[in-house]
Amino acid sequence: MIYLTGDTHAEFRHRFNVDNFSEQMGMTKEDYVIICGDFGGIWDLNEESKNEKYWLDWFEERSYTLLFIDGNHENFDRLYCYPVKEWHGGMVHEIRPHVLHLMRGQIFEIDGKKIFTFGGARSHDINGGILEKDDPDFSKKRKRLDRDYIPYRINHISWWEQELASEEEMQEGRRNLMEHGNTVDYIVTHCCSTSTQVILGGSFYEPDRETDYLEDIKNSVNYKKWFFGHYHDNKNIFDKEILIYEQMIRIS
Ligand SMILES: [Fe+2]
Repeated sequence: MIYLTGDTHAEFRHRFNVDNFSEQMGMTKEDYVIICGDFGGIWDLNEESKNEKYWLDWFEERSYTLLFIDGNHENFDRLYCYPVKEWHGGMVHEIRPHVLHLMRGQIFEIDGKKIFTFGGARSHDINGGILEKDDPDFSKKRKRLDRDYIPYRINHISWWEQELASEEEMQEGRRNLMEHGNTVDYIVTHCCSTSTQVILGGSFYEPDRETDYLEDIKNSVNYKKWFFGHYHDNKNIFDKEILIYEQMIRIS
């Protein structure tokens, strides 16, 4: 079985408890739950805090294997320090033996399904900009933004430039797709293609190199369904693209 859900932002208690997700009772470690980015379970500075360790161990003890792609709200400095290994045909960061980060541009064969994964997205909640901790005016700038309720983020503390895909990651994705004849069952991403973003938000969301890349993927890859998160809603876009948030849906 494969279940899939949207952004969690480190809020696990509700969505994953047995009352709300009773299907886990019949699951094993060969069954999977995929989070479509903004996992948030690796966020704190420097190392696993007590709270983070608790939840990562908690997932390791569940009946199923937890998989996640990255969103824009992950601590990339730390996420990229976990060991990399090959798993089911693609590359993962091993957070725990059964808590795995599915890396960008990979194709995994799980439960008889081919799944192309591509995490990352550009943050929208940064109208106030990205502050630098060692900027002599840091406190002054922060105070002003707080006072005016303007959202901002701090480099390497609450924002990382790796949130947006690099050229190498995009190329790796294209290469892996080519090797599979540009045909997969599912695509799992955090943001969506540029044209789908327009349907979701008109001109509210600006296109970027990652949404443009996903546009190219949409036009050149055969797939059955495409699942993505990031926009905090549950919505079907046409019959093949599905924006998912708090729902937990079975896809295999
Ligand atoms: Fe996001």
